[in-house]
Amino acid sequence: MTKDFFTIDDFDVSGKTVLLRVDFNSPMSPDGMILDDARIKSHVRTINDLKDAKVVLLAHQSRPGKSDFMTMKSHAAILSKYLGKEVRYVDDIFGSYARSCISAMEPGDVILLENVRFFSEESLERSVDEHADSYFVQKLLPLIDYYFNDAFAVSHRSHLSVVGFTRDVPGGAGRLLETEIVSLDRGLDGERPCIYVLGGAKVDDSLNVAKNVLSKGSADLVLFTGVVGNVVLAASGYDIGPTNMELIKKTGYADYITKAKSKIEEFGDKVRYPTDVALNVDGKRIEAGIEEMGKSGYPANDIGIQTIAHYTSIIESAGTVILNGPAGVSENPDFALGTHEIIRAAIHAKFSIVGGGHISAEVHRLGMDSQFSHISTGGGACIEYLSGTQLPGITVLREAYAKKKGSDEDLSEDND
Ligand code: 3PG
Repeated sequence: MTKDFFTIDDFDVSGKTVLLRVDFNSPMSPDGMILDDARIKSHVRTINDLKDAKVVLLAHQSRPGKSDFMTMKSHAAILSKYLGKEVRYVDDIFGSYARSCISAMEPGDVILLENVRFFSEESLERSVDEHADSYFVQKLLPLIDYYFNDAFAVSHRSHLSVVGFTRDVPGGAGRLLETEIVSLDRGLDGERPCIYVLGGAKVDDSLNVAKNVLSKGSADLVLFTGVVGNVVLAASGYDIGPTNMELIKKTGYADYITKAKSKIEEFGDKVRYPTDVALNVDGKRIEAGIEEMGKSGYPANDIGIQTIAHYTSIIESAGTVILNGPAGVSENPDFALGTHEIIRAAIHAKFSIVGGGHISAEVHRLGMDSQFSHISTGGGACIEYLSGTQLPGITVLREAYAKKKGSDEDLSEDND
């Protein structure tokens, strides 16, 4: 592969202040414990390769309104353990306290700023120039020498901390982002049939990806599970019951039922949804058909046994399989069956990729990491990349590279 973006190797960062966007977004318990720290660990190599610089980390945890939308304090403690030195947690993002902490740094220091999504402008899908001109960027700009993006998992968002710094600050991709691009590029030309198994609760991302991969012909079949599976069931005219419907409304995805309907009409035979579910009846797993799901009033917390058998037989014979999002509430062992069986089936495919924090945590729990062709740290970013979408966070790095190379060539022509 010809490299078309800068990396850490292209700059002398020694003694310089480096702003590094990482993705520490991790599954968390309601009392603020990090349940799986794989995302934090995944950036250690990059941070170690910047050991002679002053490293300022920018990261997010979850989204506004979610129960795990929390501070970065516990992430800093875990990172300190992996780096073997103190990572200072700074309870500010770009205010005077954050700026004074950055100014006081010495080479070798690492600080982690507060959850960048606590500042609402961060999550606006804006253009590079709009973000680059923001108050946030302008305040940090005088303090930083380089910006690197190592947060592959959020590179599909045109968010401030992802695209806002590259216009005015030199830099490029961190080690993790570099590895993701190289590994996923191998999956892009994977063998057929190519099956996507889309679950989890990010209904918007999953439906977009299904539409992209099916309309471009890069997937042969999409199997839906998880909350998105329930949305597709409702869109297909099934009564999914008041509790399941309430969850969809509460998470803001009610409109997606109509959107999913048109996709199902368009791609009918290339889309599969559950034929049975596991209901959570007062904490117990009870297998139920779709009709019972509608009548019962209990939440469907996993796909059912028949669906598991049907899906796994399709997955096992795939040329390429891409898993994204758990099939159910996999943190609860009684409802992890669907997710675990799908994972076990996927390793039989010729090329297997798993993306997304929750399902990767289950792969890890099963001790099956090495049996996958690639475990991506990205969820939505991974499937969007594989569906051929240009990710804003990567596009800005490629543009910065092309611009610099172009101006270097102009200069050498002038000197000839
Ligand atoms: C992820 O977990 O996929 C990333 O951290 C991005 O999170 P988001 O979907 O809330 O933008």
